[in-house]
Amino acid sequence: MEVWIFILAGFLLQPALTAPPNIVLIFADDLGYGDLGCYGHPTSLTPNLDWMASNGLRFKDFYSAAPLCSPSRASLLTGRYPTRSGVFPGVFYPGSRGGLPLGEVTIAEILQSQGYETAMVGKWHLGLGANGTFLPTRHGFQQFLGVPYSHDQGPCHNLTCFPPNTSCYGTCDLGETLLPVFLNEKILQQPVNFTGLVPRYMEFSKSFIRKAVDSRKPFFLYYASHHTHYPQFASAAYTGSSPRGRFGDALREFDGSVGELLGTVFDAGVLDNTFFFFTSDNGPETMRMERGGSSGLLKCGKGTTYEGGMREPAIAYWEGKLKPGVTSEMASTLDILPTVVALTGAPFPNVTLDGYDLSQLLLYRHKSPRNIFHYYPTSIDPERGTFALRFGKYKAHFFTQGAPASENTPDPDCHITALLKVHDPPLLFDLDTDPAENYNLFKEGVPADLEPVLDAILQERVRFLKAMEYAESQMHLGIDPSLRPCCNPECTPKPSCCHCEI
Ligand SMILES: *[C@@H]1O[C@H](CO)[C@@H](O)[C@H](O)[C@H]1NC(C)=O
Ligand SMILES: *[C@@H]1O[C@H](CO)[C@@H](O)[C@H](O)[C@H]1NC(C)=O
Ligand SMILES: *[C@@H]1O[C@H](CO)[C@@H](O)[C@H](O)[C@H]1NC(C)=O
Ligand SMILES: *[C@@H]1O[C@H](CO)[C@@H](O)[C@H](O)[C@H]1NC(C)=O
Ligand SMILES: *[C@@H]1O[C@H](CO)[C@@H](O)[C@H](O)[C@H]1NC(C)=O
Repeated sequence: MEVWIFILAGFLLQPALTAPPNIVLIFADDLGYGDLGCYGHPTSLTPNLDWMASNGLRFKDFYSAAPLCSPSRASLLTGRYPTRSGVFPGVFYPGSRGGLPLGEVTIAEILQSQGYETAMVGKWHLGLGANGTFLPTRHGFQQFLGVPYSHDQGPCHNLTCFPPNTSCYGTCDLGETLLPVFLNEKILQQPVNFTGLVPRYMEFSKSFIRKAVDSRKPFFLYYASHHTHYPQFASAAYTGSSPRGRFGDALREFDGSVGELLGTVFDAGVLDNTFFFFTSDNGPETMRMERGGSSGLLKCGKGTTYEGGMREPAIAYWEGKLKPGVTSEMASTLDILPTVVALTGAPFPNVTLDGYDLSQLLLYRHKSPRNIFHYYPTSIDPERGTFALRFGKYKAHFFTQGAPASENTPDPDCHITALLKVHDPPLLFDLDTDPAENYNLFKEGVPADLEPVLDAILQERVRFLKAMEYAESQMHLGIDPSLRPCCNPECTPKPSCCHCEI
């Protein structure tokens, strides 16, 4: 009898259980594979992300679609390689004319059309343009609180990064305007007050979540943290709190904010209907030395197509829905849009996607539909195409190149002095036995037993590159200094007169 009551109760609860889940997408900045406690860092304090990992699914083979910021973010929100949206080569600047084209379909647009409340908090970096043409509010986010690009893309030497009065480290980009904080399409503050920024982000996020839950609407929150990007910053509550120094303090504040979001969702009573996903945009900026992140045992970092540039920490958490564990199934930021579409029951956009629906992997621990990953470099050139290809456990490098952001590591292959090199046959690594990419299996030519592997890899690369469509480069639209944001548009002399606090 009791059993039947139970089943009946479960049955009656069905409508509530099948309400579309809330989505919280958390994206870290320049955070590497080795930076979190749950990925083995000995001095990072990341109790909330570690908690998410032990109660959710932690990925060991998760890839960001690009080794740097703007293209990586474009891919996350569209499920497409940046080649298709034109968000290449490099990144956007305060005066960039281009941005993520308005014709691109973002996760926010899809969910908004499904009746979701949508908001973004943190770093955008997908363009600003004339009169805010490319801001999040034009891409499906009903609300936006944050910075339009990287927080080092404006002078920072006179700003306080840690209270009471520790100046930001370095000078940041001296020729630019001071960094603004936007609320929707208006400048709220210029320059940013770093020491009060995260409390502000959290107040906004909590109020957004509570209002959505109160009005019985599903919500999508995209929290793009930028603490761990250079120059790191933190509020008073986290300053001096980590044995890992300034980077550790910033990371701790980011982790603390993840805890606040978890707590808010819990308090609102919707934890069991909220899907959280965390990952990072690209590998660590080792050129900043101890103020950059760590890719752990992986080779090189940001800006490169070695594993350290694009393999990222990633955690999925959905209370009661995902079996906790660790997976070495392959997945990518490209897969987030199709997965969110599947989990929410939204229609797939009528565009070519490069991602796969991971919902069966998440909910039932089925195999990942992804067994292949193509690595584009920072300087995407249609003539050259991808630099590397992961094919099951193997990774082939057709081109290698160091990067300024990966300077100061002990490995000279990472550095700017490691010029573009063509490899024919490719370098081949077995990432199961050699995740650090140390031992080229083709060092002495192609062994007979690996010939079929090489054939399959070459075929896959040709197939992929033939099918790829390259949009016009948004970066090649260039820069117009008059597009730099100023809270006081009529003031002179620019940019130093652009000071506001609302
Ligand atoms: C921006 O908007 C203002 C006021 O609506 C208008 O005067 C101006 O021409 C616009 N600028 C551009 C570049 O579209
Ligand atoms: C920054 O501070 C220096 C001296 O401390 C000063 O000369 C300079 O004008 C300041 N720059 C800005 C942009 O406020
Ligand atoms: C920074 O703050 C500390 C403590 O408030 C004070 O002792 C110190 O003089 C300040 N330094 C500067 C450069 O303002
Ligand atoms: C920045 O924000 C903090 C925390 O809200 C505040 O104490 C501080 O006075 C602010 N600094 C400036 C320059 O406004
Ligand atoms: C999908 O897009 C293609 C190409 O733009 C178009 O031909 C087709 O009609 C669209 N299909 C739907 C169902 O909108």
